[in-house]
Amino acid sequence: MKLFSSVNDVTDIKQLVADALHLKQNPYAHKHLGENRTLGLMFLNPSLRTRLSTQKAAANLGMNVMVMNVDKEGWALEFNDNVIMNGTTVEHIREAAGVMGQYLDILGIRSFPGLKDRELDYSEEIFNKFVEFSKIPVVSLESATRHPLQSLADLVTIEELKTRPWPKVVLTWAPHVKALPQAVPNSFAEWMCKAEVDFVIAHPKGYELCEDFTKGATITHNQEEALTDADFIYVKNWSAYEPYGQVISGHDDWMLTNDKLTNTNDAKVMHCLPVRRNLELSAEVLDGPNSLVAHEAGNRVWAAQAVLKQMLEGLQ
Ligand code: CP
Repeated sequence: MKLFSSVNDVTDIKQLVADALHLKQNPYAHKHLGENRTLGLMFLNPSLRTRLSTQKAAANLGMNVMVMNVDKEGWALEFNDNVIMNGTTVEHIREAAGVMGQYLDILGIRSFPGLKDRELDYSEEIFNKFVEFSKIPVVSLESATRHPLQSLADLVTIEELKTRPWPKVVLTWAPHVKALPQAVPNSFAEWMCKAEVDFVIAHPKGYELCEDFTKGATITHNQEEALTDADFIYVKNWSAYEPYGQVISGHDDWMLTNDKLTNTNDAKVMHCLPVRRNLELSAEVLDGPNSLVAHEAGNRVWAAQAVLKQMLEGLQ
């Protein structure tokens, strides 16, 4: 594997999930695979889980890791070609990514969307330029439109804890005060649409996701109906796709509470984190027996390790 940016980069999803679960039982079985190999983790936006879990995954494989908060510690980057760089940008992505490719064997990039220009965000310009100019294998640490390491960890979690074949998995929109990207729900939807699950998306009118990510999902505006008989509930806020990046007020009653778990199949509750308590998800659910959020975050290590292992095998 030379690129991990979406579910479409995975040849065999079931095998990748099985690899992750195997690595969870045998974290150091491939300790020599990463010997004398270097992973660079480049962040243009903040991170707790992605940064720590990917670093740990690489260490389990014996890799060296370099981490840089490019937005704070690097030169201001220019992404446009044919510009006279007489403004605030100091280094062009062509040189910056090209130099990273000299130091690293695998590059991880995190870059969020601006949520102002949909066409620009959905072109994945920043991520794609790192891929193009670094000329080395690249793993997405969350891009403008997708978060594949999160979605793989989510699928690993569902596979690990499901109590019946084809569990019912519900992605439910949650309230928030800020405009958040669509990357996590887009990505979760496209992975679930390819998984052996009964997948339902519930959101208020106006929060329709881009159809490219939701083909095969059942989509409803009725949260109560969606949650009935659910095995897994994935809670996440996102801003509108149309009009792009907008927050539509008046949906505070979409926050998941214990009451809403009553008609589920004792549903396990997931969230990628970070989460705003009692806004996006109630504290009673987060602190209750059905919450999987810490377990799910733990599985980020094995998801990242399975992907890095495949990339390292490709370098042999
Ligand atoms: N879920 C997730 O990606 O967390 P971080 O933003 O903290 O990495």
